[in-house]
Amino acid sequence: MQLTRFVNAFKRLETPFYFYDLDILDQTLRLYTKITRKYGYHAHYAMKANANPQILEIIHRAGLGADCVSGNEVQLALDLGFDPDTIVFAGVGKTDKEIKMSLQGGIFSFNCESVQEIQVINDLAAQMGKTAGISLRLNPDLDAQTIKQITTGRSKDKFGISGKDLTEALNVVNDCPHVKLLGIHIHIGSQITDMDVFVKLCEKMNTFQKWFEQRNVNLEHINMGGGVAIDYENPLGNPISPFETYFETIHNNLEVRKGQKVHFEPGRSLVAQSGFLISSVLYVKKGQGKEFVILDAGMNDLIRPALYQAKHVMYNITSKAKRKKIYDVVGPVCESSDRFDEFAKLPITERGDLLAICSAGAYGQVMSMRYNQKELAQAYYSPEL
Ligand code: LLP
Repeated sequence: MQLTRFVNAFKRLETPFYFYDLDILDQTLRLYTKITRKYGYHAHYAMKANANPQILEIIHRAGLGADCVSGNEVQLALDLGFDPDTIVFAGVGKTDKEIKMSLQGGIFSFNCESVQEIQVINDLAAQMGKTAGISLRLNPDLDAQTIKQITTGRSKDKFGISGKDLTEALNVVNDCPHVKLLGIHIHIGSQITDMDVFVKLCEKMNTFQKWFEQRNVNLEHINMGGGVAIDYENPLGNPISPFETYFETIHNNLEVRKGQKVHFEPGRSLVAQSGFLISSVLYVKKGQGKEFVILDAGMNDLIRPALYQAKHVMYNITSKAKRKKIYDVVGPVCESSDRFDEFAKLPITERGDLLAICSAGAYGQVMSMRYNQKELAQAYYSPEL
């Protein structure tokens, strides 16, 4: 396994820590940008997936723009040198302060999520003597068939402007001289494994496009959001998402107008498999009919298993044992939900062993916190390690 070559270096570091294999990141970005270039597509990296500045710099260098969901994300993208013209800003609850700083920064587009927000952006832009580029984030009422907490495109979800409010939204846009409508945007969820969902998403976009066309509205761009899944079950064997199939699906089903640009917002699929959470085994303890492996990493470092019951493959990268056992792998935090896997099959595991938790590069470090006053895990990178 490729991780074993780093074990000696890992042993010198204080655990838990995040480890990023930059070769994996590089290969992923190479394939992604090769295909998007082929189709002439534009990509904004969804910074929420991982806002570690070193990772962001690599993604910036690969030529992607930024998809932000807070003023601080916009500021970080600007500070790192992302061209304002490649920054989009989504989110249902943009504050006045965030809108003003983004106007000041001259970002490409606010992805507006309500009729009222269009009005507010117009008023703030007027006060500043500016015109805001906006896109309408539309709610297509489509189930992404993914983890329910990260499904965003059904009518009952808080995201986007619903079809029934579209006429009102367009009327408001027409009454607002300080906003310029550039395009429309849809994002229905994350970790979407079924390509048929993307076919349906294209059909929804085609229908929306016709609606605007019938009203003589020219849309310079359409934005298809993110959502491409990664392989959580076989992260080392299959580290790169099926980008070819995904983009082919989009290309074959999306009706693009002449001169129109097509944008995407990939997050997880770019960064997840390059990241590992490396943790030491503190204790192995007998429980009722089972054994607990107690790690020094917890839900404060990687919250996905506790929050979404997500499964992350784990490897004991120091054990030489041939025999395997089922363990209940938990963290040190004072909550029973602080569990990585109730039935993890690992070689006989002992205090001091190192475990690598895979697929942790997306929504891992960025969602870590100091609950129980734990320290935030440091990050290390190959090949510098
Ligand atoms: N665009 C918008 C507007 C989004 O809200 C998101 C993710 C993306 C793009 C990127 O989607 P991706 O390519 O990463 O699927 N914390 C959760 C995931 C939350 C996703 C939020 N929005 C998790 O750990 O699974």
